[in-house]
Amino acid sequence: MRYLAFLMILLSVLHLRADGTTFDDTVHPYFQTYCIECHTAEEKKGGMDLSVIRQASDFIAHPTALTHIIDVIDFQDMPPQDAEAQPTEEESADVLAWLQAELQRQRNAAPNDPGIVPAPRLNASEYGYVIRDIFGTTAFDASAFLPPEGGAGEGFTNVGGAQSLGTSQFENYLSAANRVLSHARITPEAGFSWSPAPQGDAHYRSSTLKKTGAELDQLART
Ligand code: HEC
Repeated sequence: MRYLAFLMILLSVLHLRADGTTFDDTVHPYFQTYCIECHTAEEKKGGMDLSVIRQASDFIAHPTALTHIIDVIDFQDMPPQDAEAQPTEEESADVLAWLQAELQRQRNAAPNDPGIVPAPRLNASEYGYVIRDIFGTTAFDASAFLPPEGGAGEGFTNVGGAQSLGTSQFENYLSAANRVLSHARITPEAGFSWSPAPQGDAHYRSSTLKKTGAELDQLART
């Protein structure tokens, strides 16, 4: 009996962070106030149904939801700017901290399970090497387009799980690609070559960008 009481106490503090943020007091009300109107089973914007997350343990059944939600709050992509109810920075920071702690807790609970290993995106150095390999030039400076990476991947900058891809970063990659295309030449004799003078940046129509973005989202979810 005493053992059971101890277990109950342990379970109840498990989801409590040091500063007292809990799912029930902070995270769930945040979802209800700022997110749910667009993310119910019926609405399900962007494929995200937040009504299935009613308690902390629901994240275990929906592991990718947790990382997606962390990303969109971290990048301030959600709620969208035109949504009526907007959280304060402090509210979002509290929720983000809880979600990240929960993610860490799940990872610690299954240390031998690598889980989903997300494909990394190219960092600026890798991007530069690829351009060099294709075009035989070191003239392209990818770091002018791609932001420096954080060291969240245990100090490595090319660990997919530690990288994120928000809208603005995605646009950085598009600008880099646009610039590369403006220098790129392809002829039957020389194959790929690099023209020192750019021929004006190629411009994608925004509908094309949206479509590409949606396809990437879809890929990320599979
Ligand atoms: C006014 C409507 C609206 C509100 C409020 C809203 N969203 Fe969204 N959400 C969208 C739309 C529209 C999309 C899909 C558009 C897109 O993918 O760019 C989306 C997509 C998403 C996605 C999927 C994106 C991905 O990368 O998988 C997540 C996760 C998400 N929202 C979480 C949230 C969270 C968390 C909140 C509250 C903090 C929230 N949303 C509030 C409209 C909303």
